[in-house]
Amino acid sequence: MTSIGISTLRRLANIINEAIDDIERVYAAADTPLSSLDAPFNPADPAEALLQNPIVEGATLNIMAAASQLSATVASPAASALNAAQAYHISACLRAASEMNVVEVLREAGPAGLHAREIAAPSKTDPLLLARILRLLAIHNIFREVTPNVFTNNRISSVLDKGKPSKVLFENRNERLTGTSGFAALVEFSADHNMKGVAMLADIMLHPKEGELGFNRAYRTTGSLWDWLHRPENVYQMQRFDIGSCSHTFRGFNWSELPTGGVLVDVGGGIGHISLAIAQKNPGLRVVVQDLEDTIKDSKIVSRSLYKPPVNKTGNLNIQYWKENLPSHVESGMVDFQVHDFYTPQPVPNAAVFMLRYIMHDWSDELVVKILRHLRDAAQPTTKLVVVDKIVVSAARVPDSKKEAIPGAARPSAPAPLLPNWGVGKAEVYYYDLTASTRLCTH
Ligand SMILES: C[S@@+](CC[C@H](N)C(=O)[O-])C[C@H]1O[C@@H](n2cnc3c(N)ncnc32)[C@H](O)[C@@H]1O
Repeated sequence: MTSIGISTLRRLANIINEAIDDIERVYAAADTPLSSLDAPFNPADPAEALLQNPIVEGATLNIMAAASQLSATVASPAASALNAAQAYHISACLRAASEMNVVEVLREAGPAGLHAREIAAPSKTDPLLLARILRLLAIHNIFREVTPNVFTNNRISSVLDKGKPSKVLFENRNERLTGTSGFAALVEFSADHNMKGVAMLADIMLHPKEGELGFNRAYRTTGSLWDWLHRPENVYQMQRFDIGSCSHTFRGFNWSELPTGGVLVDVGGGIGHISLAIAQKNPGLRVVVQDLEDTIKDSKIVSRSLYKPPVNKTGNLNIQYWKENLPSHVESGMVDFQVHDFYTPQPVPNAAVFMLRYIMHDWSDELVVKILRHLRDAAQPTTKLVVVDKIVVSAARVPDSKKEAIPGAARPSAPAPLLPNWGVGKAEVYYYDLTASTRLCTH
């Protein structure tokens, strides 16, 4: 058949086939089988390192974009719209599974899996409801239903593993997220706090109130997210947020070019997990982590915390985190934690780099200018500014002539008929953007 619809389907299918050829070639050359969706994720498996191979990365993006566009093209539009309207079920179920430590219970059960009755027993929750929750996730390829009502981990569910014995997680609920990779914390925070804020989007747009954000409406509060997180009663949320932020990493700036002894100032750095990752690879860099008082002086948080004070009695989550992950920097005084409000003059006069990671998206342009002015006032001619944030690209194809409006800002486009920005292949950027809109501060 030659109708345009069929030819588009074929073109999408060809993109998928070519991407599979590329992936298979790379894995065959490395003599490594591709990881299975049915097996738990193993970061030490050489197959995982190949995901960073640029050919595999490009092919993966094409498959994600093409597969979603292919099903959107053929599926009933009403069914697609209704499924999209109910996608909140995935968030809610994922959070429930993480909060009930299902992944860890299943890890201990092994590949045969466990009946929902036994999965629900340690949390004393309803086994029938839990089975329905896990089944909804299984149809989205998160967990696997081995036989009716018997579930096991798979590649996707296993990344939520907090890495502790389930008994320990159930015994001390308030400390279940401390000392973890932070990924479960990020998932829980996203599927709880962020979801509730984003759920208010239409309400806020249609019935706006001066200065009110989505998260304000959801939590019936005023002020910024940071004011709210720093309230004594929200300490669990704040620590979950801080721990969750630790699961990100990034590439792109050549830190090794900085002089030995150069000072990296992590402005609004949380507990400094990113500067820690940078210092691990560049131990000659001095680090100053700046944030608001409660984030920096965790002794206050700990004393009123739902968490017990850390065993080492430092009373400080930052130092504890650094002591566990880069003790040499703490012992040699190469890391400093500084209470600093980035709306006040920057106190470090000799920075090699000011880093703003995931800061600018939370504030209006006017306020971002204020933050940047303070950094510029303190900068030396050699000081660099590193901004790490996500760029939201239009879903429309932009003519090449318009791409160079900002020098160096041209970005690659996906091949037609894919959406030029790779559609859901890049969904994470668009999710992040709208989450920020529910807490974007203009005052
Ligand atoms: C989205 S988090 C980013 C944390 C860290 N940079 C990262 O990449 O994970 C924003 C951080 O800005 C901090 N923050 C908010 N208002 C601030 C202010 N006025 N001065 C300094 N830090 C602030 C928050 O406490 C929080 O740690």
